[in-house]
Amino acid sequence: MEEVREALRPGLPWTDLVCLAVTDSTNRVAMEMAENGAKHGTVVVADAQTAGRGRMGRRWVSPPGKNLYVSLLLRPPVPAVDAPRLALVAGVALADAVEAVGVPAALKWPNDLYCGGRKAAGILAEMASDADSVRHVVIGVGLNVNVEEDDFPPDLRGAATSLRICAGKVFRRVDVLARLLDAFGTRYAEFIGGGFASLRDGWDRRDFLRGRRVLLRRQGGEGWGTADGLDTVGALRFLPDGGPAVESVHSGEILDFRR
Ligand code: BTN
Repeated sequence: MEEVREALRPGLPWTDLVCLAVTDSTNRVAMEMAENGAKHGTVVVADAQTAGRGRMGRRWVSPPGKNLYVSLLLRPPVPAVDAPRLALVAGVALADAVEAVGVPAALKWPNDLYCGGRKAAGILAEMASDADSVRHVVIGVGLNVNVEEDDFPPDLRGAATSLRICAGKVFRRVDVLARLLDAFGTRYAEFIGGGFASLRDGWDRRDFLRGRRVLLRRQGGEGWGTADGLDTVGALRFLPDGGPAVESVHSGEILDFRR
């Protein structure tokens, strides 16, 4: 962890780095620490997770020695309604970091990073708020760094990838983590200063879904349509099949897409 600390530029928000050999979930640990008063800028990293949490109640496969499992504890000065955008901010920062180590990255709304057409990372944002103000947000990032094809359970083969699979070489995880913390610090400052609009370019040029047919699940149901990029607040612009107009979707999941 000293290597990570030394690699960080001054001025970044990271205050405490907590490094665990194994835990159930770094998000769970960070949420508990937040409830107990841990500072804005606390980072929790684990070498392995026994109950890594994914979105929609799914598991996040978290073997030791290969990947990054990191949770960032933030106390952002934004209204509760804007806090979920931090997951998009994390996506842009993650893409910055992955590209900085030489792997081209794409972003699939809302919370996935794709490399070579397959998912290499996922982001899980959890938050606690009072009325309309945010108490804390935990941004969890799981990035497949050095896992190989055979390391994935059968149900993930063909759908998941890693930096190593894409680039054909092994990466130092501390380097990737240092890049991520650096990029997130920069992107977070942009977001606090100017909202999602100020980092929208960073999303647009890596938008995996733009122009594709997608199956969207949102409150009220599921349906196919065409993804048309993100608007200035980070909502998905979605033209439903047969629909008269593009709609702004603030939260939802893409269940399927056409290549
Ligand atoms: C997804 O479903 O795509 C989101 C996966 C998020 C996984 C990360 S690993 C670090 C952090 N701790 C967790 O338990 N989950 C997140």
